[in-house]
Amino acid sequence: MKRFESKVVLITGAANGIGKACAQRFAQEGAFVVCLDVTDQQNEAVAQEVREMGTEALALHCNVTSPEDIKKVVSTVMEKWGRIDVLVGSAGIYTGAPLAEVEFKTWQRTIDINLTGVFLTNQAVVPIMIAQKSGSIINLSSMAGKTSWVASAEYSASKSGVIGLTRSVAMELAPYGATANAVCPGNTLTDMVRGVAGKVGALDGKTGEEWLQMRANDCPMKRLAEPWEIAGVIAFLASEDSRYLTGQAIEVDGGLVMS
Ligand SMILES: NC(=O)c1ccc[n+]([C@@H]2O[C@H](COP(=O)([O-])OP(=O)(O)OC[C@H]3O[C@@H](n4cnc5c(N)ncnc54)[C@H](O)[C@@H]3O)[C@@H](O)[C@H]2O)c1
Repeated sequence: MKRFESKVVLITGAANGIGKACAQRFAQEGAFVVCLDVTDQQNEAVAQEVREMGTEALALHCNVTSPEDIKKVVSTVMEKWGRIDVLVGSAGIYTGAPLAEVEFKTWQRTIDINLTGVFLTNQAVVPIMIAQKSGSIINLSSMAGKTSWVASAEYSASKSGVIGLTRSVAMELAPYGATANAVCPGNTLTDMVRGVAGKVGALDGKTGEEWLQMRANDCPMKRLAEPWEIAGVIAFLASEDSRYLTGQAIEVDGGLVMS
C-alpha cells in the first residue's frame, strides 16, 4: 500500500533540489503532485518525470511572493481534485554577504521569498485543511534558523522566522487534526548549496569544493546530505505515522547543530 495514494501534494520550489526530491518521493508513494515554481521549463520537466512514474502531476507557474499566483494555483487544484492534503514549502534563496554589504533590496528579496512566501502559501491552504479536518504542512527552514554564521543575516533571520510562523500555524491547525512542522536541513547537495559554497568559501579564501569539504568535516556524520534524505523526513511528516507530531522544527543535519 502506497502511503500517499491519491493524496494531493503541493510543493513550492519543486523544479530543483529538495523540492524536486520531494516531488519524486511523493510520486513514488502514489501522490498527485503539484509542482510550483518560477522556472517553468524545469518545473514542467519534474512534473513529466512524476507522470512517467505512473501518477498525475501539474506544473504551475507560482511565484511564492505573489498572492495572485498562489490564489490562482489553489483554485486550479481545488477545481481539479477538491482537496489539498500536503503543502511542502521549499521555495527559497540564499543571498549571503557580510552584513555591511547586504543591500536593502537583497534583504527584502530574501525575506519576501523565504518568509513571506511561506506565510502566503500557508495562509492559502490553512482554511482548506481546517475545512477538511486533515492535512500536513511542512515548511523548509534550515539549520540557519537555529544557529548562525557570518554572512548569513538575512537568510538566518528568514529561516528563524519560518520556525516561529510554523509554530503558530500548527496551533491554528491542531484542533482540526492537521499538522504543521518545519524541517531544518544541514548542508544538502543542491544548486543552492553549491552557490553558497562559492560565495562563503571565497570569504575564507577557499574554493567552493574546499568549503563543502570543510562543512562535511564539521558534521558529526562527516558528509553532506543528499536531497532525498531530506525528502524522506518530509514524507514522514506528511504521513499518518506523524499525525501527533506538530509545531516542531526538526534538524536533519547529520548532528551538526546538536554538536
Ligand atoms: N540545500 C541546502 O543545503 C539547504 C539547507 C537548509 C535549508 N535549505 C532550504 O531548503 C529549500 C530548498 O533549497 P534547495 O537547496 O533545494 O534550493 P534550490 O536552489 O536547489 O531550489 C530552490 C527552488 O526554489 C525556486 N524558487 C526560488 N524563488 C522562488 C519563488 N519566488 N517562487 C517560487 N519558487 C521559487 C527555484 O526556482 C528553485 O527551483 C530552501 O528553502 C532552502 O533555504 C536548503
